Amino acid sequence: MRIKALFSFGLSLIFFFIITFIKPPIDLANAAISQVGCKLPTQSSALLSVLQKCVVPENNPDQFAWELFAFVNQAARFQEKTKQGQSTNNAIWETWADDPLTFPEKPDPSQPPQWPEKLSSPKQLRLRSKVEKSQPDADFIEFQKNQACTPENAPCEEVRRNKPAFNYIMNNDLWYTQGLTAKFQSAQKALLKGESVQDFIKFPLDSIEVKGDWVPITENQKSEFHWNYDEKGDLYGLIAMHISSKALPNWFWATFEWVDNYGRCDYIGCHDLFGVVPHNLPSKQAINQQYSPGKITPELVSLFKEHGLTESWGQEWQHYRLKGSMTDFTDSTGQPLLLGNSITEQGFVPSASCITCHSRAAVTSLGKDAFPIAGFRPFLPGVGETGSKQTVGSAEIQFPNGPLTQSYSGSPDPNWFYRGISVQNSAGVVDVQAEEILKNLQMDFVWAIPFNAKPAP
Ligand code: HEC
Repeated sequence: MRIKALFSFGLSLIFFFIITFIKPPIDLANAAISQVGCKLPTQSSALLSVLQKCVVPENNPDQFAWELFAFVNQAARFQEKTKQGQSTNNAIWETWADDPLTFPEKPDPSQPPQWPEKLSSPKQLRLRSKVEKSQPDADFIEFQKNQACTPENAPCEEVRRNKPAFNYIMNNDLWYTQGLTAKFQSAQKALLKGESVQDFIKFPLDSIEVKGDWVPITENQKSEFHWNYDEKGDLYGLIAMHISSKALPNWFWATFEWVDNYGRCDYIGCHDLFGVVPHNLPSKQAINQQYSPGKITPELVSLFKEHGLTESWGQEWQHYRLKGSMTDFTDSTGQPLLLGNSITEQGFVPSASCITCHSRAAVTSLGKDAFPIAGFRPFLPGVGETGSKQTVGSAEIQFPNGPLTQSYSGSPDPNWFYRGISVQNSAGVVDVQAEEILKNLQMDFVWAIPFNAKPAP
């Protein structure tokens, strides 16, 4: 009896060891995830904790914004050498495919761009695309894009996307004009058959796009910034960062600023319920001032730790603040929601809405940009004041460089995309009628597509 018990104890011990040590740990981890998952629990006492864990982007947007930040800003495994021989200081997003790689100047459909498997080359920064009056008193504005950037004309800018987003653009031929024309035609056909084209262009859930803005800095300013070298070996510090994630159908939007940016919370305030106290900083009356850094929360510190943002690498990232996150066009009363960064949306922060402006990323039947000056409202007077010059890093920047334009905000207008869709009924209410003629095809909020795709020769 005793021997039998010992024997079976021994057997179960062996079995335990096999299960614990032989089975690869990754399998156990996956099994655990699929068991817990995001299914609603059977017990009501567990409902709250499952919802809190699973519905983060909508209900705790600022937490999700920081999770994205910590995720994309993990230190990259591979670094590169600049032309001067310095080693880069890349976070993982800085090794992703950038716009010049994704959208070649001379696209050849038989040779689609390849994902930079190990190394992308060091940065080729470009001038922030901006709207400018050709003359100070001109009625028209001009749009400048993709100009080379040097320390003298900073801020410099770059856009990068992760592999799921890059692959989607490649696999659907969204990286050159003829590919876009073909998409438009098949969307038009689908619409005529009575199908919806809402999800015609639909990036995968794990797509992430990042835009970063940089100013030149000196060696002894490195500790105050996330710093990096461009391909020429010029040293830059990061001052603004946009992240968009397809975690939500209309994407999740967040923007971060270098803590000492002049006018960081101007016009719309800064709002972060997760990473910093005080959570809300209202705009100052006098624009272009610096704002108090506040105190980083213990929750943010432990999130950074989980993602390896510790020691000197973690120090770099402590100089950034979430300005705000965005998950919808309007609030529950229908008032437009606003979000804009003092650097990237310089000059139109008071009317900027990430989600509304990006909903206007669309192409015409010819595969061309439907709203060529980037979705601005060109002929409305700008709001905001012209500020003064300030030194950021080692660059002098005009803050802001003139109140020139307004951005669209609030709900998108179906007339931007379909022909003859809104009709006024007898009560004067605008009725939206189903319409099968496609005017412009939405590019799932990714501006880079209409903005950068060029015709194949
Ligand atoms: C008035 C229009 C407008 C507003 C407002 C705006 N953007 Fe953009 N955004 C653009 C355009 C145009 C591009 C592409 C050209 C470029 O890279 O400058 C772009 C590019 C981007 C990219 C690179 C991926 C892509 O879609 O091409 C990200 C990420 C991004 N914006 C995030 C944001 C966030 C976050 C906000 C709000 C804080 C915001 N944008 C506000 C027009 C806008």
